[in-house]
This record gives sequence, structure tokens and C-alpha cells, in this order.
Amino acid sequence: MNFELTEEHLAVQQAAREFAQTELLPGVIERDDKQKFPTEQIKKLGELGFLGMMVDPKYGGSGMDAISYVLAMEEISKIDASASVVMSVNNSLVCWGLETFGNEEQKQKYLVPLATGQVIGAFCLSEPEAGSDATSQRTTAVDMGDYYLLNGTKNWITNGNSASYYLVMAQTDVAKGHKGINAFIVEKTWEGFQVGKKEDKLGIRGSDTHSIMFQDVKVPKENRIGEDGFGFKFAMQTLAGGRIGIASQALGIASGAYELALKYSKERKAFGTEIMNHQAIAFKLADMATEIEAARLLCLKAAWLKDQHLDYGKASSMAKLFASETAMKTAIEAVQIHGGYGYVKEYHVERLMRDAKITQIYEGTSEVQRVVISRDVLKG
Ligand code: CAA
Repeated sequence: MNFELTEEHLAVQQAAREFAQTELLPGVIERDDKQKFPTEQIKKLGELGFLGMMVDPKYGGSGMDAISYVLAMEEISKIDASASVVMSVNNSLVCWGLETFGNEEQKQKYLVPLATGQVIGAFCLSEPEAGSDATSQRTTAVDMGDYYLLNGTKNWITNGNSASYYLVMAQTDVAKGHKGINAFIVEKTWEGFQVGKKEDKLGIRGSDTHSIMFQDVKVPKENRIGEDGFGFKFAMQTLAGGRIGIASQALGIASGAYELALKYSKERKAFGTEIMNHQAIAFKLADMATEIEAARLLCLKAAWLKDQHLDYGKASSMAKLFASETAMKTAIEAVQIHGGYGYVKEYHVERLMRDAKITQIYEGTSEVQRVVISRDVLKG
């Protein structure tokens, strides 16, 4: 077993680290405070190839592996988790879903601009009454011959207003349960498409999360992804990869909080010495470092399985479950180590603590990950 990263991996990691320091760090507090979308920064991420990292270069992507994606996500998330969720959704839910299951026309028309970052995408599965229970969709798409008529509401949609293209799951035959769900590519400019209210969130406040309404939106037949009834499996398979992205985001939030706590512990003095010399602090740092390393290994293992075209469903859920819980725990401890300074914005850790919470909720709550893992464990 070889744990060493290749030259290419190290180069991607370094490029992401530099980008985060030079382009994301300045202004991150203000964007969080004012709920300002990082428009310029996302544009630059696209130009550098970070929005279509794993997409084949023939569709405008960077042709990298999933390990590179984990490394880049960690570095970007250390500094700005609002920017990294945009990156994660575009890469692993939208681009991956389209490249893997879309047809050639769909890839040429939609994947190329998404992978090159000319536009960004969104993934619309959750509904007011269907979050974890993804089969209970209320949004309907009625087959009208040449097109489907789409009606319904989606909730908590990342990139809700900033996206141009939306992958939308809808019921085409309620009687068939999950086999009656389809996935469609929907354009924002189509008649009847409406961006609803922007959520005022606890964390990742620089990203835009909206509800989306469809009122008699005509979706051409050629915009359905895959065979009739493939939508639920499309969503589940796409989310399995998406969970590697969010696990890596959580890893980045944890390691960002840890690095700040470590630095502070070496500078801050109390009771006549730097606080790192007190075991109460040193042991916290030891636990943080250990848990972060375990989370990183789980993320890399899931990515490695994906790169080898092996089953990674359980591994991605394990990575997300553990990394998101590590993010929350580490960020809380980082605030504690900073004392009063940890509670104010300028020291960054309070933002990381707020950002950490969402990683236990979106792309499947921790409870959903336990459902996926336990089903796999129990079947054996
Ligand atoms: N790959 C392929 N097929 C899969 C699959 C996978 N990973 N997971 C399930 N399936 C298949 C099953 O094999 C089954 O097919 P058959 O009937 O042919 O055997 C079918 O799909 C139904 O599977 P289940 O019976 O397991 O379905 P379920 O309803 O019991 O699923 C669940 C339960 C795992 C909790 C699922 O509903 C789930 O993952 N929910 C969470 C949804 C989620 O993550 N939402 C996040 C929204 S997106 C988001 O947050 C994006 C953002 O903006 C950041």
C-alpha cells in the first residue's frame, strides 16, 4: 500500500492552496457577513479548471482523478467553505452526473460550458416535504408527447440563483414509486422557471441557497437524462460521488480550524507560557490531528475506489459521516482554544464552526449516511 501522493497530486494541492490564500482569504469575512456570492472567485476557479476537475478534456474538463479533487476541495474549504460548496456541487453532482449518464448531445450542449466554468449548475432533489426521504417527490413532470410539463417546488438549492442549468428530479408516474422518477436538464431562462426566496443561513453564507419553483415549464423530451424511470438511481449514484466532495469540504473545515488553533496555541501566552505547553491544550490538538488524519484517509480511500471504478457507496458515506462529525467537533474545540477571540469574526474559527454544521446535513444527513452504511454492513 502506497500512501505517497504523486507529483501531479502535490501540484494540484499547491495550486489550490495558493488560490485559497491569494483569492479567497481576502474578503471571506465580508462575504460571509453580507451573504455575498464569490462571483469573481468562482469565475477564476473555472478558468483554472477547478469546476470540471474530473471531466474528460474533450468536454472541457481537467481530466484529473478523484484524489486530486479531494486534495483541492480540502485546500479551498480550509479558507472558504462557501466557495467550496459551489465547486463541489458543480463538479460532483452536476458535471459528473451529466458526463456519466448524459448523451452526447447533452454533453456538448450543457457539460462543456459547465466544465469550463462559463456557467455553473445546480442539483434539485430536495423538496419542502422530501429531504432525506428522496422518493417522496411532489414535483411532477407530465409526458405531453414532445415535452414534459414540469410543476413543483424544490428547496435548499445550492447555486439556486447563480446557476444557469439545473438537474431536476421529478415524478413522472407516482404509482411506480422510485421507478417513476426522472431527472431532467432545465434551463433557468425557460418560461415558468422562478427562483424563490434566498435562505438566510447559519453558515456557508457566501453561497446562495434558494427555493426554485416550476410552473408549467416545458422541458423538451431530449432533456431527460437516461432511460424512463432512471431518475432515482441517477440521484443516488450522483450523490454517492457528491458525498466525497462534501466529506472533503468537511475535512478542509476541520483542518482549517485545526491549523488556526495550532498557530494560536504557539503565540498566545497564559500562566507564564505559550498555551500549547498546557496539556489541556496539547491533548486537544493531539485529538484534532488524529481525527483529521482519519477523516483524510477515509476521503482518499473513497476517492481511490472511485478512481479504480470499484464500488464506493459505503466508503463515501463513511467518509462524509466521519469527516463532517470531525469538522463540527474540531471547529468547536478551535473556538474553545481561542477563548474570547474565537467568538469574534476576525479570527475565522467562529465562521468555520458555523460552516461545519451544514456538512452534517446536506447531501444526506449523518442519519442518512448511517442508513447507507448499516444496510451495506447488515447485508454481508
Ligand atoms: N446507486 C445505485 N442505485 C441505488 C443507490 C446507489 N448508490 N442507492 C439506492 N439505489 C437503488 C436501489 O438499489 C433501489 O433499486 P431497486 O428497487 O431496483 O433495487 C432503489 O435505488 C431504491 O433504493 P432504496 O430502497 O435504498 O431507497 P430508499 O428510499 O430506501 O433510500 C435513502 C433511502 C438512502 C435514505 C435515500 O433516500 C437517500 O439517500 N436520501 C438522502 C437524499 C439526499 O442526500 N439529499 C440531499 C439533497 S442534494 C443536496 O444537498 C445538494 C446540495 O445542494 C448541496
